[in-house]
Amino acid sequence: MGAGAIGGYLGGRLAAAGTPVILIGRPRLGETLRAAGLRLTDLDGADVRLPPAPARITFAEDPAALAGCGVVLLTVKSGDTAEAGEALGRHLRPDAAVISFQNGLRNADVLADALGRGAAGRPPTAVRGMVAFNVVRRGPGHLHRGTEGPLVTGPLPAAHAGLTPALRAAGFDAFTHRDMPGVLASKLVLNLNNAINALSGQPLYAQIRDRRYRRVMSAVMAEGLATLRAAGLRPRPLGHKIRPGLARWVLRLPDPLFARVARRLLDIDPQARTSMAHDLARGRTTEIAELNGEIVRLGAQHGHPTPLNRHLVDRVRAAEAAGAGSPALPPEALLPGA
Ligand SMILES: NC(=O)c1ccc[n+]([C@@H]2O[C@H](COP(=O)([O-])OP(=O)(O)OC[C@H]3O[C@@H](n4cnc5c(N)ncnc54)[C@H](OP(=O)(O)O)[C@@H]3O)[C@@H](O)[C@H]2O)c1
Repeated sequence: MGAGAIGGYLGGRLAAAGTPVILIGRPRLGETLRAAGLRLTDLDGADVRLPPAPARITFAEDPAALAGCGVVLLTVKSGDTAEAGEALGRHLRPDAAVISFQNGLRNADVLADALGRGAAGRPPTAVRGMVAFNVVRRGPGHLHRGTEGPLVTGPLPAAHAGLTPALRAAGFDAFTHRDMPGVLASKLVLNLNNAINALSGQPLYAQIRDRRYRRVMSAVMAEGLATLRAAGLRPRPLGHKIRPGLARWVLRLPDPLFARVARRLLDIDPQARTSMAHDLARGRTTEIAELNGEIVRLGAQHGHPTPLNRHLVDRVRAAEAAGAGSPALPPEALLPGA
């Protein structure tokens, strides 16, 4: 539900591995699927193609097409969760599960409320999910996984336990975790860089190569981690390799040492940018409220100061209001007092 970068990639890889998939998306995606199909590549060299004919993937604009589905992966942006959730509530069976594969801490809660509003009787179950990797558009129908990392879900209802093996068969490092608030807290710390990337106007590769931006990242992440801990959340490692607590130290290393220690982190498409950067470029509302804004909200709630994240929220809001894309700010302007 919401087949953009993440939804198209997850749905496409599942379909290629033999799982029946229905993609719900905008009309332009339907046109692309009919004309070119899907091509799904990744940084490990995978190149999976789903040709337009014979179609191995069903496309629809109306979520009513999901009425018979057991599991729905929700991949709309946070601002669209409530509307999409209500529509799903209207159409899905009560024994269906909807997994929020979105960033931010609270989308699954917004989803659960919306499913309840939409459903006439018992609503489907909302489940927390987390996507650790990044997907970028490389051309019409071509989605590229540009970084590594697992797919994590909360415990699934027994009837839908087959999702994890299906995701693994599709090539994902998928597992369930009991402490999804802790998993999502870790992802949130990493996503605090989205605002820095969007405001810098630089591709991720160039931004992360620059120690001055990395120092801002490290400080913003440290503030985020401390705030989450003050709020009683314990960020969990995202698989074996991604540890936000460690990342903030690695980010401060001088450029040559960083390039050696964080080789895999720099193994990204040289033109890739975060989705917040794309949102600013397209004049859209970003997910700033659910990312750095969530840290500011938790800080206010638990008496923990968050000047760095508040400054980034203000800067992104100003850029949204100006509607002129990224303000291309230098690292110094990303810190309060600039
Ligand atoms: N991209 C990544 O690498 C990445 C990685 C991890 C997590 N995430 C998270 O995953 C979520 C999705 O991100 P994304 O980058 O995949 O966003 P995206 O590319 O904008 O995809 C969302 C798609 O859903 C469509 N949509 C919204 N409401 C719909 C509706 N009611 N019916 C049909 N289609 C609808 C949107 O269309 P319109 O644009 O026309 O509204 C858009 O095509 C976000 O929470 C993001 O933070 C993204």
